[in-house]
Amino acid sequence: MTDVRPPAGIEAGTGTAHHTGGSGGTEALRETIAAELLAARARTAALTDCVEDADLTAQHSPLMSPLVWDLAHIGNQEELWLLRNVGGRDPLHPEIDPLYDAFQHPRAERPSLPLLPPAEARAYAHEVRGRVLDLLAASPLEGAPLLDAGFAFGMIAQHEQQHDETMLITHQLRPGEPALAAPPPPPAPVDAATMPAEVLIPAGPFTMGTDTEPWALDNERPAHAVELPAYFLDTTPVTNAAYQRFIADGGYDDPRWWTPEGWEHRQRAGLTAPLFWKRQDGQWLRRRFGTVEPVPPNEPVLHVSWYEADAYARWAGRRLPTEAEWEKAARHDPATGRSRRYPWGDGPPGPEHANLGQRHLRPAPAGSYPEGQSPYGVRQLMGDVWEWTASDFHPYPDFRAWPYKEYSEVFYGPEYKVLRGGCFAVAPVACRGTFRNWDYPVRRQIFSGFRTARSLEEA
Ligand SMILES: [Fe+2]
Repeated sequence: MTDVRPPAGIEAGTGTAHHTGGSGGTEALRETIAAELLAARARTAALTDCVEDADLTAQHSPLMSPLVWDLAHIGNQEELWLLRNVGGRDPLHPEIDPLYDAFQHPRAERPSLPLLPPAEARAYAHEVRGRVLDLLAASPLEGAPLLDAGFAFGMIAQHEQQHDETMLITHQLRPGEPALAAPPPPPAPVDAATMPAEVLIPAGPFTMGTDTEPWALDNERPAHAVELPAYFLDTTPVTNAAYQRFIADGGYDDPRWWTPEGWEHRQRAGLTAPLFWKRQDGQWLRRRFGTVEPVPPNEPVLHVSWYEADAYARWAGRRLPTEAEWEKAARHDPATGRSRRYPWGDGPPGPEHANLGQRHLRPAPAGSYPEGQSPYGVRQLMGDVWEWTASDFHPYPDFRAWPYKEYSEVFYGPEYKVLRGGCFAVAPVACRGTFRNWDYPVRRQIFSGFRTARSLEEA
């Protein structure tokens, strides 16, 4: 067993990219970018140095790439966007480009490709990074859309952190002894027991999406007004204890709670509980990064599909919130009428606000992070668990694909459901109130949970 703690540098990223204009501003922006790139690489190293080479090249699930693919793909995308597109350099190893193009090879195929072995994959990513740091030092960070506010660098820092989250999912699916360790999150604050179960969000307009977030991706843009009727939203994500009541009440055996597609999937896949759970001697156990442990009752439920979340909500006499309802609860400040970057304000995420950045290898108990709550008193919107919403993944009005169509546009459509808020595996740089994630409704190897809502007239 290899027991590796994330190095201290893993949380150097702060998610701030506010610097614009002036040479002092450019220098500060360079430092921010360098810190974000460093934080991402430290995390990549922690996730790939803690297992043997055989573990890096094995495919632990057909849903995931071998870790060594992610490693070289991170370097390849960095080379493509920064060295070639921004820097105008020639390809370093053009023959490997097709291997690491996610659109050319679905994950199930990747282990059969002639991938770079671990040592070469590391050396390639390292070589690219050295040249990128030289490019960064010489770049004006303005004067072209990819350069303004360091956008392409920010996109690449986010891309690496997103693959780090993907690699953490692979670690969760990997059989064998634990390879990762992190301290548990702090216990829930005392007021968690007396919090209201739900809060009322009054009717009215709010600003959804952004025009000003410098490193926001195309699907988060543009800002636009959305008018919503009043609704109630759960104060915290749904807990394991609440979800166990759904199971105990026969929720998995009652088609009334499921959509027709959801019921069909539940039967075909034989779903009876969240992924990684098993029942033993009258109690629920879960497997978490190689350790089997009792399911903690007051933690947000994790590893459920959209179909399961939707069925639970119907069983509870409620529904999943729409994406707009989630974002209004997370960002709208009724005192000023404007939308915040984060539930707590515009300042970057700190450890007091949210469970992000793989600081802990699990969600925090429901009701944690009172300092991170939104103006309406909704908690844990950022971090802990990705939250399924009722919404399909569609573009905002006046959407413009940028910097490439394959970032978001090719995914728009009813087959994907939107998830919001990030999870414990998401880095601050890759998380904000406007950030949108999407996946198939059957997926549950991801760090997914949910909270529920109800319309006012249902009261
Ligand atoms: Fe990628």
